[in-house]
Amino acid sequence: MTDHTPPQPGMSTRAVHAGWEPDPATNAVKRPLVMANSYVLPPNGDWDAVPFGYARDMNPNERWLEERLQALEGGEDCVVTASGVSAINGTFMALLSSGDHLICSDISYISVRTMLLEHFPKRFGIKTTLVNTADLDAIRAAITPQTKLIHVETPGNPTTRISDIAAIATVAHANGALLSVDSTWSGLTTQSPLTLGADLVMHSISKYINGHGDALGGAVMGPKHLLDVIRKFVVKDMGACISPFNAWQIMRGVATLPIRMERHNANAMAVATFLQSHPGVAWVRYPGLASHAQHDVATRQMDGYSGMLNFDLVDPTKRAAFIAELKVFVHAVSLGHDESLIFVYNDYADQHFFRVSIGIEDAADLIADLNQALAKI
Ligand SMILES: Cc1ncc(COP(=O)(O)O)c(C=O)c1O
Repeated sequence: MTDHTPPQPGMSTRAVHAGWEPDPATNAVKRPLVMANSYVLPPNGDWDAVPFGYARDMNPNERWLEERLQALEGGEDCVVTASGVSAINGTFMALLSSGDHLICSDISYISVRTMLLEHFPKRFGIKTTLVNTADLDAIRAAITPQTKLIHVETPGNPTTRISDIAAIATVAHANGALLSVDSTWSGLTTQSPLTLGADLVMHSISKYINGHGDALGGAVMGPKHLLDVIRKFVVKDMGACISPFNAWQIMRGVATLPIRMERHNANAMAVATFLQSHPGVAWVRYPGLASHAQHDVATRQMDGYSGMLNFDLVDPTKRAAFIAELKVFVHAVSLGHDESLIFVYNDYADQHFFRVSIGIEDAADLIADLNQALAKI
């Protein structure tokens, strides 16, 4: 019998069409930007009967972006917030209480680390154990009866460490804990943490998902019963809502995310391979290279290795001179932009290296830029 069920649209189709319909007021083919703070309420004052009442609680551009991101990442719903940090730290605050324990990768975004190590234990009674989440035994050893959440960042910022999402989900669930994954560095299209067993996925949507380095935002995806709690606490009660303009801008970026990620993946592999062969380069760390410590896990759980890599020079005294010679790469923080970015870590846990976000320029131009700068120092 012929199956007439329409196929699930592919990732690129969903990136363009999810959360979209022609504007009913004007027939415009693009979603409008709705900057209004408040919306007309029904005469009986029943806010629950209307989708929008006050823009902090929910605004149309936020909702359309949430629909699009949910269609790409999966889960029952998505909550979009003001920044990646508010999505991550806000989730912890929404779900954890005094006396709870959390396990987090010892490689994680700096503001997440500061929240967990400074604010939580001193002022909120929430304890954190930092572990190498590439080591399952270290995770098992850190679990206590109070452990409510395991949080991993994979690939991890800044060292590209890969954690095995499916294996950690099994450990978490066997011990009654949830697993949340900061998937920012994956660019969303290269891995699917919810499919691998994670309960919640977070993104800084300021990075690959926006893709153009011109708007901040964050997102959490997962089951509705958790997201309802997160939405109420983070967006409504803490007020960490996204500006409608940022949501509109980021929604525009998402449409090209799948094709941009293909270029980021391919360019990063080409640049990593070039750097690895250059005599002036001491080492390269890229999950797509066989030399990466978790290359096998990355190959199993990712489809493409994203655009982030580390390397260092044979002569570390030349780092500043090398950066000064670059013409295409921009010396700046952040990642996932259209342009390639390079940032030097002069001391990260006693390591010294460049963190590179490979952009969507021509790979040959990126390699030529690195080559000429290496030749000059
Ligand atoms: C992995 C990761 N998570 C979270 C963040 C924070 O995101 P935002 O700057 O949008 O708050 C970053 C920023 O670089 C990041 O790299």
